[in-house]
Amino acid sequence: MSNIQFKTTPNGNLKGTLRVPGDKSMSHRSIMLGSLAEGTTHVTGFLTGEDCIATMNAFRAMGVEIDGPHDKSVTIHGVGMNGLTAPIDDLDMGNSGTAMRLLTGLLAGQSFDSTLMGDKSLSTRPMNRITKPLAMMGAKIGTEEGGRPPLKIKGGSKLKGIHYDMPIASAQVKSAVLLAGLYATGKTSVIEPGITRDHSERMLRGFGYDVTTAGEHGKHISLQGGGKLTACNIDVPADISSAAFFMVGASIAENSDLTLEHVGINPTRTGVIDILKLMGADITLSNQKEVGGEPVADIRIRSAQLNGIKIPEELVPLAIDEFPVIFVAAACATGETVLTGAEELRVKESDRIQVMADGLNACGIDAQATPDGIIIQSGQLTAGEVDSHGDHRIAMAFSIAGLRANGEITINDCANVNTSFPDFIELASGVGLGIS
Ligand code: S3P
Repeated sequence: MSNIQFKTTPNGNLKGTLRVPGDKSMSHRSIMLGSLAEGTTHVTGFLTGEDCIATMNAFRAMGVEIDGPHDKSVTIHGVGMNGLTAPIDDLDMGNSGTAMRLLTGLLAGQSFDSTLMGDKSLSTRPMNRITKPLAMMGAKIGTEEGGRPPLKIKGGSKLKGIHYDMPIASAQVKSAVLLAGLYATGKTSVIEPGITRDHSERMLRGFGYDVTTAGEHGKHISLQGGGKLTACNIDVPADISSAAFFMVGASIAENSDLTLEHVGINPTRTGVIDILKLMGADITLSNQKEVGGEPVADIRIRSAQLNGIKIPEELVPLAIDEFPVIFVAAACATGETVLTGAEELRVKESDRIQVMADGLNACGIDAQATPDGIIIQSGQLTAGEVDSHGDHRIAMAFSIAGLRANGEITINDCANVNTSFPDFIELASGVGLGIS
């Protein structure tokens, strides 16, 4: 693949109003549940990034008719719980861990065999976290050594409901088990060790499926197998994970005043707002409303002097995808920022702890990786050349760092920005980011 390189120009500030693309987690789930529903589901605000297109293509390959995306709208002609047909080829999940893990749960309950594969990054990511509980339910899934993809899923297994005490806080694991649970006999339940995003539960309910939550903060989630999904309309809000780049950018760049419109503020996703506020950010929410069972708001960010903090561990799962850019905020804050309890970052699209530490070091910042986090000292970001390791969020985090660097930052291997944020360069330039 050709090396798409980003180059930043120093001294920008962010001003105006922006709507970032649709939420990735919800866009994936809208295709999955819409395909299995009875009736026609209309989705607006759909994320047309490569990850969600991979999910869409997988369902098309299993016989689902899907129109679009046209202007971020998609129409899915649902085939019902048992209407998928065997794909002719392996299903390519590209760079997407969410697509692979959630689909594995769904495919474990089908009558036909299937194989899920992915790109170089996805092929190194751990899948035993889902194959283990799915095997307990009776699924037959073959993996490469160490539980890596491709995953070969045997059809025709009779699944039975389990009660699963999750060892890690992961919405992907929770969702894979619950989606398999749709096809299992009896009740399937999971207990999460920490709060993770609950879009699967909310959207299942939106499609008329009964999901119960109990216990402290609703961490015990259950459903009964054998039900059906009924088509509905879904309005996908802007992705808070994409908005996060601009929250940090407008905070660290002097004279910024930026409003991000219609952002999803599901409380399982707002860790980035809490962390930035603890650091002293000037963030205000307005126009709060609920759209299709998900809370949304406009978010206004004005420049502020940030201070270093010890990031509370309970916020880690609520901000899991936002740490690359939070580390950039830490580099621009006064004093030291310490993150612990975040070893999950090492198994994302890249090892986000090491790759960020290396990139910050290349731009003059003292950042020290630890086994489960990072220690960052504030400093002057300088010109430098960083390698994103094909990780979209690393590429965008260093694009934002460019606002405070005293020279040009060159970022290598940026093609995968298209997995989650198509038109990043155009939208970011439009509000004042110096980037090409
Ligand atoms: C996601 C869950 C998170 C997140 C990922 C999307 C989802 O992963 O990092 O980008 O849509 O369920 P984990 O659940 O593995 O933490």
